[in-house]
Amino acid sequence: MLKTPEIETLIDTVLIGDSWTQAQNLPSECVQCIITSPPYWGHRQYAKAAELREFEFGSEKTAQKYVEKLVALFDELKRVLKPNGTLWLNLGDTYRDGQLAGIPWRTALALKDTGWLLRSEIIWHKPNAMPSSVMNRPTTDHETIFLFAKSPDYYYNADAIREPHVTFSEQSRMKGGRNHLGKINSTPEKGKNQGNSNLHRGRWDQAFHPLGRNKRTVWNIPLSKFRDAHFAVFPPQLVETCLLAGTTRDDVVLDPFMGSGTTAVVAKEHGRHFVGLELVPEYAEMTMRRVDEIQIRLI
Ligand SMILES: C[S@@+](CC[C@H](N)C(=O)[O-])C[C@H]1O[C@@H](n2cnc3c(N)ncnc32)[C@H](O)[C@@H]1O
Repeated sequence: MLKTPEIETLIDTVLIGDSWTQAQNLPSECVQCIITSPPYWGHRQYAKAAELREFEFGSEKTAQKYVEKLVALFDELKRVLKPNGTLWLNLGDTYRDGQLAGIPWRTALALKDTGWLLRSEIIWHKPNAMPSSVMNRPTTDHETIFLFAKSPDYYYNADAIREPHVTFSEQSRMKGGRNHLGKINSTPEKGKNQGNSNLHRGRWDQAFHPLGRNKRTVWNIPLSKFRDAHFAVFPPQLVETCLLAGTTRDDVVLDPFMGSGTTAVVAKEHGRHFVGLELVPEYAEMTMRRVDEIQIRLI
């Protein structure tokens, strides 16, 4: 039997091949975070070579088959994830026979059934989404990102991704105004909501936490400008948000659908390591070219 390689020999590389097959070669409990965007069901073909197409995610005949393949892959990757690790899974939906297939939630519920803890549904709002000519429903301008954990005691750095306060300004009518910044006691809520410490803390976090308020579940992030020779690339800001919340320096992040390598690039920019899996050799090469450029820029 072949010996599983050590993670040290795999970091900062892309393994070329089918992600489910390659996942079997990864050691257990070696990555802190998985950030990924599988091909949508029934949207486009990435592989030009006919012999690769049978492995390609997204080309399944039914939504059920697509979800089953994703579940099998993430079941294997759960083994690879550290016990306190997280999975950030970006999924889009597909119209079939005049209606939505419901892919994101079908997948989320199926993953829950295999033991993943579903912690958040994040709406990625794309302010520059492609226009469409539909007139009998709203134009879709969002995708879903699910945050899953392997165990209840997972690593999540809320402070690393706080967002600006919107409820507090110099003109704030909250009694005490800026005096409350950074001080958790004595906000007006303390008097108003005596006995409800959750509400008090939530209101304080929303208006007065010195680093901003806790990240919300709607992320407004424009589509990336890097669309060179590859469709559907992640915006770096999207990967950055997941990475900063889900990892610390020197951690390893895995992307089993590496594509053009945005996850790898953002990982290196932030002093993390990556492992990529990718079916199409040309895309794996593109990732390594982008990573080399980053390394040169960082020296
Ligand atoms: C939506 S793209 C990922 C884009 C990536 N997030 C980026 O920023 O460039 C999905 C990728 O999954 C790859 N892929 C499809 N089926 C695969 C499989 N069975 N194993 C590994 N990669 C696969 C495709 O070639 C494509 O590059």
